[in-house]
Order: sequence, then structure tokens, then C-alpha cells
Amino acid sequence: MNCLSFYVNGKEIIDGNIEPEWTLLWYLRNKLRLTGSKLGCGEGGCGACTVLISRYIGGESDEIEHRTINACLAPLCSVDGCHVITVEGLGSADKSNLHKAQTRLAELSGSQCGFCTPGMVMSLYGTLTSKNDLLPTMQDIEEAFDGNLCRCTGYRPILDAAKTFASDIDKIHYEKSSSSTTSTTMDKCLSYVQKNSLKIDQVEFPSKLRNYIPQSIHIKGSSIDWYRPISLNELLHLRHTYPGDQSKLVFGNTTVQIERKFQQINYPRLIAITHIKELQEIKRTKDSIYLGAGVTFTRLKAKLIELNDNNNNGFCQALLDQLKHFASTQIRNVASLGGNIIAASPISDINPVLVAADATLELHRADNTKVRHISLCDFFLGDRRVSMADYEILVGIHIPLVKSSNKYFLRSYKQASRRDDSKGIVSAGFKVQLEQSNLVNDQWKIVSACFSFGGMASKTIQAINTQQQLIGLSWTKETINKTCELLLKEMPLDELSLGGQLEYRRTLVQSFLFKFYSYVCNELHQPLIDSSILSYHRPISHGQQTIPEQPQSQKFVGSSLPHRSAYLHTTGEAIYVDDMSFLFNTLHAALVLSTKPNARIKHIDIDDASKVPGFVSFVNYLDVPGSNKTNGILSDEEVFVSSVALCIGAIIGVVVCETEHAAQIASNLIKIDYELLSPTILTIEDAINHQSYFGDEICLQKGDVEKSFVDAEHTLEDTIYIGGQEHFYMETHSCIVIPSHDDKEITLYLGTQSASAIQELTALVLGRDVSHITCHVKRVGGAFGGKESRSFPYCLAIAVAAVKINRPVRLNLERHVDISITGHRHPYKIKYKVAFTNEGHFLGLDIQMWNNGGCTLDASRAVMELSMLHVGNTYQFPNIKIRGRVCKTHIPSNTAFRGFGGPQAMLACETVVEHVAAYLKRDSFTIRRLNLFKEGDTTHYGQILELWNVPRILDELSKSSDFIQRQTNVDEFNHQNTYRKRGISLIPVKFGIGGLFKCFNQAGALVHIYTDGSVIVTHGGVEVGQGLHTKMISIAAEVLGCSIDKIRISETATDKVPNMSATGGSVSSDLNGMAVKHACEQLRQRLDTLIVDNNVNISWEDLVKQAYLTRLDLCARGFYATPNIFDYDFTKNQAAYNYFTQGAAVTEVELDVLTGDWHLLRVDILMDVGSSLNPQIDVGQIEGSFMQGIGLYTMEELIWGDHTQNKWIQPGQLYTCGVDTYKIPSFNDVPIDFRVSLLSDSLNPRAIYSSKGIGEPPLLLGSSAFFALKQACMAYREQQGLSDYFTLHSPATVERLRMACTDEFTRRVCPDEYETLPPRGSY
Ligand SMILES: Cc1cc2nc3c(=O)[nH]c(=O)nc-3n(C[C@H](O)[C@H](O)[C@H](O)COP(=O)(O)OP(=O)(O)OC[C@H]3O[C@@H](n4cnc5c(N)ncnc54)[C@H](O)[C@@H]3O)c2cc1C
Ligand code: FES
Ligand code: FES
Repeated sequence: MNCLSFYVNGKEIIDGNIEPEWTLLWYLRNKLRLTGSKLGCGEGGCGACTVLISRYIGGESDEIEHRTINACLAPLCSVDGCHVITVEGLGSADKSNLHKAQTRLAELSGSQCGFCTPGMVMSLYGTLTSKNDLLPTMQDIEEAFDGNLCRCTGYRPILDAAKTFASDIDKIHYEKSSSSTTSTTMDKCLSYVQKNSLKIDQVEFPSKLRNYIPQSIHIKGSSIDWYRPISLNELLHLRHTYPGDQSKLVFGNTTVQIERKFQQINYPRLIAITHIKELQEIKRTKDSIYLGAGVTFTRLKAKLIELNDNNNNGFCQALLDQLKHFASTQIRNVASLGGNIIAASPISDINPVLVAADATLELHRADNTKVRHISLCDFFLGDRRVSMADYEILVGIHIPLVKSSNKYFLRSYKQASRRDDSKGIVSAGFKVQLEQSNLVNDQWKIVSACFSFGGMASKTIQAINTQQQLIGLSWTKETINKTCELLLKEMPLDELSLGGQLEYRRTLVQSFLFKFYSYVCNELHQPLIDSSILSYHRPISHGQQTIPEQPQSQKFVGSSLPHRSAYLHTTGEAIYVDDMSFLFNTLHAALVLSTKPNARIKHIDIDDASKVPGFVSFVNYLDVPGSNKTNGILSDEEVFVSSVALCIGAIIGVVVCETEHAAQIASNLIKIDYELLSPTILTIEDAINHQSYFGDEICLQKGDVEKSFVDAEHTLEDTIYIGGQEHFYMETHSCIVIPSHDDKEITLYLGTQSASAIQELTALVLGRDVSHITCHVKRVGGAFGGKESRSFPYCLAIAVAAVKINRPVRLNLERHVDISITGHRHPYKIKYKVAFTNEGHFLGLDIQMWNNGGCTLDASRAVMELSMLHVGNTYQFPNIKIRGRVCKTHIPSNTAFRGFGGPQAMLACETVVEHVAAYLKRDSFTIRRLNLFKEGDTTHYGQILELWNVPRILDELSKSSDFIQRQTNVDEFNHQNTYRKRGISLIPVKFGIGGLFKCFNQAGALVHIYTDGSVIVTHGGVEVGQGLHTKMISIAAEVLGCSIDKIRISETATDKVPNMSATGGSVSSDLNGMAVKHACEQLRQRLDTLIVDNNVNISWEDLVKQAYLTRLDLCARGFYATPNIFDYDFTKNQAAYNYFTQGAAVTEVELDVLTGDWHLLRVDILMDVGSSLNPQIDVGQIEGSFMQGIGLYTMEELIWGDHTQNKWIQPGQLYTCGVDTYKIPSFNDVPIDFRVSLLSDSLNPRAIYSSKGIGEPPLLLGSSAFFALKQACMAYREQQGLSDYFTLHSPATVERLRMACTDEFTRRVCPDEYETLPPRGSY
């Protein structure tokens, strides 16, 4: 067969015109124009592309198998004979036939920017269908989204929406919410239970596919051939015909696709082995378990559960434990056991268990003459090298089942940066056979041992020497101590070892061994120091939201209107830039980026690139018609590098081709000669050593700090480092530029927060008037500050290309390019000295901060200034001196990110509090209360605090969260448990909103009423997921007095509202809301002139019609400039925000001290949002922002090559540039109990309808988890005899937490305990 036949959303497709290199996602989006499935990462790690594949299995139960998969990894050719269901196949907002999964996610605030939402819908639908007619349990739901990421919501509402389907929802004990203003996860879910009695709609399986009989396939493409044999003989024959590199076997394609995409490895022929019966078998015989190489991990898991009895030597349980957090549902649904073995990744989590279980592989020769068996341990030769001849195929794996009178134990362990979908940093399989040597003393002797590890060498390694030395020894703690020494000797790891974290990895090996020892002792009924070491069961998560009553005078403002685009999000009908239809003649661009930092471009060779079919042009600085130098905050930047590339990722040029694929190939073929310059400065320390800064030191000062140090009873000092953070918006940067000869007009479609700034810069670069350029932004799939100024460089480059070629050009950055070039949150070094009294009253603070600005200034100075303003958080320091410096380095320019310098300053300030508390041996909450600002106090920049709610917030929150009692409970828990520790922390926040830069505090709006009564509102803000448009619609409806359904916001556009400020700083609702209100008030006043005594009840539609007939102007422009604010001036120590958003969080955590793994047990947040414009949207902002803060302070770590550490990466190159290496919080990180309340009776006369901006402040509260974790470490350290204060740098990753828990294991790898805590990391 040389064509494919399959169904998509019930429609048959027979296509003989296929390129085997197409992924299913590419085909859906580009050929079928089904753009609901999104490209978020292209490497199977975000779930935005999730679709459902159904296939007829038949058999007695007439089975149809349903699997969710990552369409970005699946070859199109693999879906032959399948039914592909995309989000569009479930229902459409247009046709009002939404599936329940879509409705509930929309109704329960499961979407914000909406970019992840189609993937969430499909994962939920997959969970609902995978059990056929059975509903999933709550536990199933908790695990259903392990392959999906969301950067906006914080996950809780998605879980709530999904739990409405849980079969056991009504069986779970829960407390009904006590007040009408409190709503809990359970309340919401239960309200749907009745509806669950109705059958869940399933997309009908096409009857024709029930008769599908797989046939051999050969698809001939222009560069790759695809074969799908259907028998082992046919497969062996094909492999015989095309041995070695002439062909590549593929099963799930989850490794092959990554190799092809990221390492540009090309194979002329792909042979799919998915339909070979012999590879699918799983069976148990008397003395072995046999696993076919083509068994997917999902099937394997199901089968292992069946086989998990007392007769498998613990193998099934050991493998099941490893599968619990193995990849994701979507990957497990397609990836094969054989693929994992042959890929031979040194960090495979599966192979150590198989090696420990003594697995043997069964390999068949391609010429069908011989079967070879080889022990798995001998199979691995080195990094991704195996002992398999070109002509061999892995058919199955044999696990021997040992029958003996000895005791036999097998266990597996894994620790990753994150629990969901994260490869192990170290994984291990341990096996021992013990025989009883002394019945009376219950002593056991080691008969044999097998210890195998992933992540400890360039291959899965077995500690053969250690194993041998253990034979005959007693199973005691002394033997384990000796084993630790032996293992460390046998697995030395060197500093070039990929991934770094050497000490941590060497500590984990021992921790796992100790866990295994404890497990075996427990099985032998020997006493344990602490049974909590054995396992941890994570309970089902749930939430609660408490919302004050809506003001009675308001109809729409203050009500929880769902996000206006929620249904478009859940149906995939919401259009983002890359979803827009192609205009005739559109070209595709790929950026040509510097691969060296600080390097002069000597020569550019485009010869090879220009030969790629479809190549159109290479564009660089010579093609810029206007200025290659930009202005504004980017005044030190060029559109294209003209001479020296300052960093890896600097834009040297753009390749433009007829197709996206050609552009990518051609851009990789551009050859550039560099001359390396020096010194290359990469870190804050490098910059300090070379005095490499942007501008002079900035200073803010109040009182006499030097004198306070002289007078004080105590002083303390320390230095902390805080790492950067990647924005990780789910939609990567993208743009379309359309040039026109008609009056030199240029139209740009963008995913930016700064439409006006791009308009102005495009005009400058193209040498045109600003009025010739129009920028349109429909919606943005998350931004968080990363789409302010860092949208400029690539948009300008594409504009130059479009004008040069005079055709539309589009660009969508791939995830790894986006992360590598568009900048991050600034890393900081912060040095402090604090003076205080015996009671803990602060007297003075001297603080010095350096941030890593990267290679150009961008917003780095402003970020530093905001840090300086936020240093004191909610505390009064009578004397304070703050100095800040922006370091100039050769990494991509760092930029704005939610919180804009506040989060770093706040961490430093709260660290000071903790340090003082630890020194005085007082509770840190007491120190916080003691130093809290009071109403009317003045900040260090001269602002008087009015409507100061933090004291009230602390009172209410400590009471509602039962903070004091829970502190005691935590202490008790820590006394009772050795290897699990808890911490609880209460952290307040005060975050400045508006003010500071006078000119940014203005906004415009334009409101049109049409004759049918429908209304279009346009304003100066961009919808990035924060619900801005929904809030604006409610304001317009409130003022106009019409129904909200009459009002639409189509887009943000520079030809409707000019000179917009960037959307950000939590101030967009305040400014744009006032402008919308102003416009609507004018309209309402005009309409009111028509209302007379006899028509007071006139309908909106009739009123508008009458207005038209009487020739009233039905269009109004609104404008707002925040009154009574001024530009800040640090030389005069003067600055003022418009107001402060305030709040606090209580966070309790539980830490596994042996690994650094931890859970958020409970989070209580109380936020003062004034009188909320939309409580559900604000709760969503609070939860999402808080979880982003959790990522910042505990999990997300940027690592790049530098001169002193991370020698395994090229200097200046970012290692963590994809979903595989950079981990944001996922579903399993959600607080188990997540309670959010909005402060009641809080007014804010300085903003619209007395509300407050909320986008950024809760992020800072994520630091409460940092301090709770630090407390947990402290509890363990005290138990180990270390009662001194210790420094913890941010993020508190699993590595840093483990290493902070100094004990016998860490000391073996790091004898000097202070050595375990240096600020290792990229700052
Ligand atoms: C997002 C993501 C998360 C992941 N998480 C984890 C994780 O947590 N832990 C972990 O250990 N791994 C993880 N992996 C790796 C994953 O397990 C492997 O990619 C997968 O098991 C490979 O199986 P496959 O069927 O897709 O192989 P393919 O990609 O189809 O093939 C892989 C290799 O095996 C060869 N091959 C396959 N079958 C045979 C055969 N029968 N005989 C000879 N050669 C064969 C192929 O030619 C190819 O060289 C992850 C991968 C991704 C993409
Ligand atoms: S795009 Fe497929 S998983 Fe991210
Ligand atoms: S709503 Fe999930 S990423 Fe934006």
C-alpha cells in the first residue's frame, strides 16, 4: 500500500501524497487547518498538541483502544487505520454542541490564556474514554494530566473541572463550605454529580475502521521512505535489505523524533515495527516473565498490575514503582520498552530495574538465521551505544524468576527535578538475596546483590565490584555504610559529566541505598528508626475559595463572569498568531543566530543554504532600509548584528523560504566564521571582577545606616544568590508581517504585550512614519513580561525581510530558540548587613544588589530600581541604604518578568527576617509582627502608607489558617519523624501598583455602538490570559446598561487606540478600565438625553435605534491619566506608587530529607484586591501567580556554561532550553489543600470601582514555600547537631534542599559541610 487511510473527527481521509517526515501535528495544523492542537514544545513535554487516537482491537469484547498521544512526536504515517480525534472533533462553540469536558473546563475557570486548554480537554476526554463506559476515579483524575503543562492557572481549577466527572466524588468525606461566600472543590464537583448520570458523549468510532485489516505500507517521500511491515519475517527481510544506517526502526518515535529534530540526524528509511505480533507478547512461564520489545509502557503497566503477585520476586512492583512517575500518559501510550532499552539513555529509569532483575535480551538476526541472548548489563557499552549488530532486532526481554529458600528483595528508586514527566537525575534498581545466618539474633547474610544505576555514568551501570565485596557480609547498617563507600569509589563521576550536580547525584545513590536497606529491614520485621522513610502517599488535592459579597449597586462589575474566550479556548477555536490562515504568497522565516558569545563576525557563507529548494533570501543588516539601531529602552541594540555578536542567540540574519521546513534547514546551513573576543563575561561574579556594568551604581538611602550599626546591639551579614526564571508562556513568540505597496502600509499580526512600541520601532527601522504601520494583537498565549521588549528584535527582523522581498513573512519561534534568545528574569546577588535590638527590632539595613542584565540594557535598570523600592517589603527599617548595579554580561538580555525585580528583593528581605529570628532564637513570625509598618508610616522612598491592611491580613490569616497551632503540630511531627520533615511559614507582601513613571500611567479606549445595539470596545490593553477583556466588558456593560452579551472586544490595534503603554505591571485593568468607563459614560449620557417619562423602560436595542435616527454620535473615545502621581527621582529619594496590593500566605510543606523531594501540604492565601472587578478571575490570577512563584523559588533553574562550573556546556550556552531540562511546576506540585480568600471590606479610592491590580503580587508569596522548606531543612540539621543558621540560595531545588540536609551521606561526598552549600548555579 502506498497511501494512508485514516479518519479525523469522523471524516475519512485517504491520502497518497504524504511526506513521511510529517508529524501528525503538522498535518492537522497545516493540511487540514485544524489549529486547535497547538505546538508548545515539539518534544512531547507540554501536552498542548494532545489528540486522541482510537483503534479497533476486536476480540471477544469487541474492544476499541483509545490513547491520548503527543501529535508533535507521532509520525503522520503511524495513524493509518486509526481514528484521530482533535479538540475540534468534540464540539464547537459556534455550533453550540460542546462536549461536557469542554463546558466544565470553561465554566470552572480552567482556562486563562487558553493555549494549553485544547490539550487539557483532550487529556480529560482521553481519561473519560479510556475506561470505556466507566467514569474515572478522583485518583485517576489526579494522574490524568501528567503530560500537560499550564503556565497560567496554577492547575487547581482544571483539576476541579475534571473531578466533576469522578465516579467516587460523592463517596469522599468532606466538610461542606460553611458560608455562602466560600466555595470548595467538593461543592463545585458535587453540583455536577447529577449531570454525571447522563452518559458521557463519545465521538463515534467509524464503522468502516472495524473492518480495517493492516497491510504492509511503503510510502515514498522526497527524502524519507516509510515502511510498515506486518510480520516479523517481513521486518527481518527489510532490515536485511537496508542494514545499518540505511534504515531506522521506529516504534513510538519518541526518541527518534527528538534525534531528528534536535540533532538533525536524518535516516533515509523509517521502518515502523508497531504491527509485529511477536513484539507485543507478555507472558509468564514457570521460571521467567517475557516482555515483548514492542509493548508500550501503558500496556506494560496494566499487565504488571495483573502479574503482581507473590511469585515474581518483586519485579512487577519495582517496575510499577518506576512507572508511577515515568514520562507522561501520552508518552507511555506510545513509547515501547524495547525503544527505551535500545535508546540506551544513561538516564533511563527503566534499565536499572531491568539490570537489577537480571534481564536478558532476545535479539533476532535480520537474515532470520539466529537468535542471540545477551544479559542486559553486558548490552550497554557507553553513551547510547549498545552491543547490537546492524542486522539485529530486539524481540523480547526475559526476566528470570528465581526460586530459592533465600529471601529475595528488589526495589527501584528515582529522583527527578520534578515528579511529573521528568527524567531521573539518578534512578536505581537494588536487588539482594539474603539467607538467615543467626536465627536467635535475627541476622541475615548477603548471598548475592545487584545494584544498578541510571545517571551515574555514561550508561546504565552495575556496581559489580561493590556487589562482589558484599557477598557473605551481614545485612546491617555497618555493611550499608561500607557499601556507600564502595559505591562512591566505583562511580566517581567527573566534572564534565552531563547535567552536573555531582555531589547531589553521589548523595542520592547513598540515600536510595539507605531507603532500600530500611525497606528490607521492615520486610524482615526488624525495628526501624523511622517508618516514614518507606513510602509517601500523596492525598487527593482540593481547594477552597472565599469571596466577599458583590457590592449591591453593581450588576456586572464584581460578579464572576467566566473568561470571555473560555469556550473558544476549550473548543480550540481561539485563534493565536500561528493559527492564522496563510495569505497567498506567504513566506516563512528562520532566524540565523550567533553560536558564539562575544565574537566578531568575519564571514557569512550562504552558498549551501541558498541551494535548499524553496530558498528565497538571506536578510541581514545590509538590508535595513531605515535604522539598524533601535531606540527607547533598546537604544544599545541592533536589529541585526553588524559586527560583534554579543551573545549566543544574537540575531545575525534571517533566512526566508517558501516553506517553514526549508527555512529551518537552510538556516542551519549558513556558515559563519567568528573571531572570538575577550574577556567573555557570563556571570555576576565575572562582571564584578571585570567591573562590567551598565551605568553607575544606583542608591536609595534613608537615615544614617552606618550609625545604626555602631549603635546596635547586634549586626548580621550574609550574601544570597537568586537564580533567573524563564517565562515559559505556552505560546512561543510569533509574528506575521504583511507589506503593501499601497501607500507604504505595513500590517503586523503579533503576540506581544507592546503593540505601540513595535509600531514605533518598525517605523524607525523601515524609515517610515509611524502612521504607516499597524499592529494587531488578537490574544496572546501567556506573556508574563516576556513579550514586552523581547518581542521587538525578531519582529523588526521579520519586518525588514518582508519589506525586502515584498511578500508576507511569518515566523513562529521553536521552544528551544525562544528560551535561548528572548531573555529571562534577572539572576541576583544580594549582600546584606542588618542591625537590630535584643528584642528583634530592626535598626538599619545596608543592602547591595547586583543583577545580571545580559548583553544589552533592556529593562534591567528599571528592574533594579523596582527591586530597590521593594527591599523593605512590609517592614520598617528606620535606617536603610540600598545600592544597585546592573551587570553587563555576554548572555541574552534579561528582561521584565511578573514582579519586575520585586521577587528578588522580597526574598532578600525575608531572608534578613529569618536570619535575625534564627540568631535571636525567636519565632520569625514574631520578628515580622514586631517590625511591621503601621498606617501612616513612611517608606524608605518617602511614600506614606494609607489604607494599610497588612496587620489585619496577618491577624485574619493566622487565625483562619490556624497558624499558631499548626506550628506546634509541625514541631511535633518533626520530633516524631527523622527522615521526613515539615516546615510552615507565614509571609506577607506589599507590592506597588502604578505611579513611578508618569507617562506610562495613561490609557485610551474607543467604543462603538452599532444600530442593532451591539457594541465593540477597543482599549489599550492586550489580553494575555489575565481576563482583561472580560473585566473591560463588565465595566462597559455596567456603565452602558446593556447586557454583556451585546459587547465584544475584537482585538488590540494601534489604528484604533494609539500610543498604548505595554500591558503589564498589574495596572492594565486600572488604566484601561478607566478609559473604557470614560468612553461609555459619554455614550450613556448621550443616550440618556433620549429617555423621557414615557419611555423609561425602553429596551437597549430600541434606545440605540432611536439614537441613530436622531443622529446621536454612537462612538466615543475615552482617555485616562492617573491623577496625583509624579516621576520617581532616586537622587531625591522620592518615588510613589499609586497604591499597594497587599496580602499574605501560610504555606506548609513536607520534605523527604534523603532526596530533597517535597510536597505542598497546604497553602492559605489572603489577598487584598480591594473590591474585586471579577473575583473568579482574580482568584485565578492569585493561584496561577503563586504557582509561578513556587517555580521561581523552588524548582525552575536556568543553567548555562560558564568559566568556573558547568564545564560540560559551552560557555555562554543555555543548557536548560527545553521542556526536557527546564521544569516548571506541574499538576503533581499543586498544593494538596489550596485555600484562597479575598479580603473583605477593603476599598481603594485610587482605582476603578475600588479594585486593585493583582497579576504580580501573589507571585512573591511563593517565597513562603522557600522559607517553609528552609525550616524543614533546619529541623533535620538540628537533629544532626547543626544548630547554626545556614544560607539557602534560590531556587531551593531538590538538589539544594538535599545538600542543605547535611548528614553522614552528604559528608561522604563533601566532608566540609559548608562546601555542600556554596552558591553553585548560574547567576
Ligand atoms: C517527553 C518524554 C519524556 C520521557 N520521560 C522518560 C522518563 O521519565 N524516563 C525514561 O527512562 N525515559 C523517558 N523518556 C524516554 C522514552 O522512554 C523513550 O523515548 C521511549 O521509551 C522510546 O521508545 P519508542 O518506542 O518511542 O522508541 P523509538 O523512538 O521508536 O526508538 C528508539 C530507538 O530504539 C530503536 N528500536 C526500537 N525498537 C527496537 C527493536 N525492537 N529492535 C531494535 N531497535 C529498536 C529505534 O531504532 C531507535 O533507535 C521520555 C521521552 C520523552 C519524549
Ligand atoms: S507540542 Fe507536543 S508535547 Fe509540546
Ligand atoms: S491557560 Fe494554561 S497556559 Fe495559559
